[in-house]
Amino acid sequence: MRIIKVQNKELLAKKATELFVNVIKNNESPILGLATGSTPERMYELLIEKYKNGEICFANVLAFNLDECVGLAPNHPASYRYYMQQKLYNHVNTEKTNTFLPNGLAIDLEQECNMYEQQIKQTGNIDFLVLGIGENGHIGFNEPGTSFNSRTHIVTMTENTREVNARFFEKIDDVPTKALTMGIATIMEAKEIILLAQGERKADILHKVIHGGITEDIPASILHKHPNVTVITDIAI
Ligand code: PGA
Repeated sequence: MRIIKVQNKELLAKKATELFVNVIKNNESPILGLATGSTPERMYELLIEKYKNGEICFANVLAFNLDECVGLAPNHPASYRYYMQQKLYNHVNTEKTNTFLPNGLAIDLEQECNMYEQQIKQTGNIDFLVLGIGENGHIGFNEPGTSFNSRTHIVTMTENTREVNARFFEKIDDVPTKALTMGIATIMEAKEIILLAQGERKADILHKVIHGGITEDIPASILHKHPNVTVITDIAI
C-alpha cells in the first residue's frame, strides 16, 4: 500500500486527478470504477477542466460505479446516477451506454446484482478504481462485517450511514434504507485502486486501516492485500 500524504484537499484532488489522467492516457479503452460522495467532487471538476483543455478524452472510457441507492430514480437528486451526470458525465464526452451503475429500481434486486457483476466480468478487469472511505471503514456500501468474498450485493445501510446521507433529504425517513454495491471481492479485482481519505473526521478510521490488522470489521483494511493501492490523504498518519 503506497501512501501519498498531501497538505490539503486541493492537492489531494490534484494528485488523484494526475493518476486518473495517466490511466486514461495510457489505455486505449480504460475501464474505470468510480465513487460518489463529497471526497471525489473536486477531482471530477479537475477532470472536466482537463477534458475542456483537450488534454483527455472520455470517448473510449467505460465506467462502473461502486454503488447506487435502492428506490431512487436516476433523476432523483440524491441518486448516484444523478450525481455522476451532474459532477462528470454531462460535462465530458462519455457515451451514456458506456457508463454503468447498478439499477436501484430493478424489480428483482438479486438478479440486478448478478447482472451487474456479469457486466463487469464481460467487460474485463477494471483498470482503475476510485474509493472513498466511510467513517466506519466502509468502501462502496460494504459496511463493517461484510465478507471479504462478497460480490455485488444488496445492503441494508447502517443508521450511521443513513444519518450521514440525510443531508440530501428533507427528513431521515426519506433516506433509502438499502443500496446495491460492488462487493469487496469485486473491488479487489481492479488492477489499480486509489483510496481518497480527506479531512479530520476520517483520521481515526484511516489510522486503523493503515496501522491496524486486516479484519472484516474494517472493510477498507482488505486493501493491504491488493498489489497496487495508493492512499491519497491530507490526514497526518
Ligand atoms: P464522503 O463519503 O466522500 O462523502 O466522505 C465517502 C464514503 O462514505 O465512502
